Amino acid sequence: MHIVGARPNFMKIAPLVKAIKEHNQTGISPHLDQIIVHTGQHYDEKMSELFFDHLGLPKPDINLEVGSASHAVQTAEIMIRFEKVLLQYQPDAIIVVGDVNSTIACTLVASKIQYPASNLRLATCNSKRRRPLIVHVEAGLRSFDRTMPEEINRILTDQLSDLLFTTEEDANENLKREGISSEKIFFVGNVMIDTLFQHLEKAKKSDILNRLGLINQRLRTSDQGLSTRDYALRTSDQGLSTRDYALRTSDQGLNTRDYALSTPYAVLTLHRPSNVDHKETFLNILEALKEISQKIPIIFPAHPRTQNRIKLFSLENYFINPSTRDYGLSTKHSCIYCIEPLGYLDFLWLMANAKLVLTDSGGIQEETTVLGVSCVTIRENTERPITVKMGTNIVAGTKKGNIINTALSQLNKLNNASNPIPPLWDGQAAKRIVDILVEKLST
Ligand code: UD1
Repeated sequence: MHIVGARPNFMKIAPLVKAIKEHNQTGISPHLDQIIVHTGQHYDEKMSELFFDHLGLPKPDINLEVGSASHAVQTAEIMIRFEKVLLQYQPDAIIVVGDVNSTIACTLVASKIQYPASNLRLATCNSKRRRPLIVHVEAGLRSFDRTMPEEINRILTDQLSDLLFTTEEDANENLKREGISSEKIFFVGNVMIDTLFQHLEKAKKSDILNRLGLINQRLRTSDQGLSTRDYALRTSDQGLSTRDYALRTSDQGLNTRDYALSTPYAVLTLHRPSNVDHKETFLNILEALKEISQKIPIIFPAHPRTQNRIKLFSLENYFINPSTRDYGLSTKHSCIYCIEPLGYLDFLWLMANAKLVLTDSGGIQEETTVLGVSCVTIRENTERPITVKMGTNIVAGTKKGNIINTALSQLNKLNNASNPIPPLWDGQAAKRIVDILVEKLST
């Protein structure tokens, strides 16, 4: 039973659903039935449904429809509704991902549930265990900042999980330090990066750059008359992965991005409560962004939480809100363009071609590392130190001067699609997880 609730969860379960399907096609025992439970933590079409479509995910089998509320109410509502589902379906394992409220809520329920003793199917799996195996994917990440709700969710979920799948070496160390037995920890790579690799070719077909007015017509037609898309098709015909291709073109002194763009732009995402829920902090960040936007236009697909705060604090003056149909961006305008949240493929392509990404998200720090795009993290810390070690990400803090200085130094760097990728971020993480799961569920 896969648990999803919030936007970043969908990218993480998509490759697992696919890998289980592929395992079943091999005919190797045991066959794994899979069910998707959506808690409904995110419910707007642009925050949820769109992702199922873009990622080719089957619609959730069950939707708990909890919606938004305070942390306590949201977590409690998920728990109450999930307990009934768990007792009805009695899965052998639940798979939780990441660090959102849905992750901890369902983990907590599963850790205390007692299936009826008469459950024969489970008895064949483990006669002592009358509750599901709890599988945490993306375990062990730590910001060491307990004011972040996600940090609480991470620590507690890891303590209650039976199998902990990690994305980076630091996570393994964090878990061991917290007393978790090494036998439960498996370093497998990053499922979100599996999704990125699986969808990059599709993302290239996105027309987001055109819609935003970011494609330079002159450049597009100058290279032997090939459009970016044709070029991408040609390379994939030759059986080259995008990454191989990036390496090859950079060897030849070409940069893939130059094909797609003339207008350099930055992409911004901002939604952490610590950044947007207090007017003074939010204003300070916006002042920094306003100054950065004098050097490079900033495209800002705004999270609903942030949109609400902008209205509440009357901060609309910091942004230009182009009409959705024709954003009509122009290089002449240096400012922050506030647009609606984008779907997975549009956002991926927008990010892949950006000169710079400014963010307070966790996953985006990882995605930019793989894409070789410079990232400025507008937070005091990161739970993903590997992204800093790889050289793409700098944690700037939240002070105006530091954000500006870091962004300007990142802007002076050349993006490099051939920068190193963290160990095991190779598109095979979900397969490794399913192989281990199959082994555990057969014993
Ligand atoms: C949640 C996660 C966060 C993750 C983020 C990704 C927790 C504690 N936080 O934060 O780790 O990075 O998702 O987006 O689980 N809203 C809508 N429509 C929606 C969803 C939310 O309008 O579909 C608005 C509501 O006003 C809601 C607010 O956004 O109150 C916040 O949503 P919530 O799910 O509580 O937390 P996020 O900030 O999205």
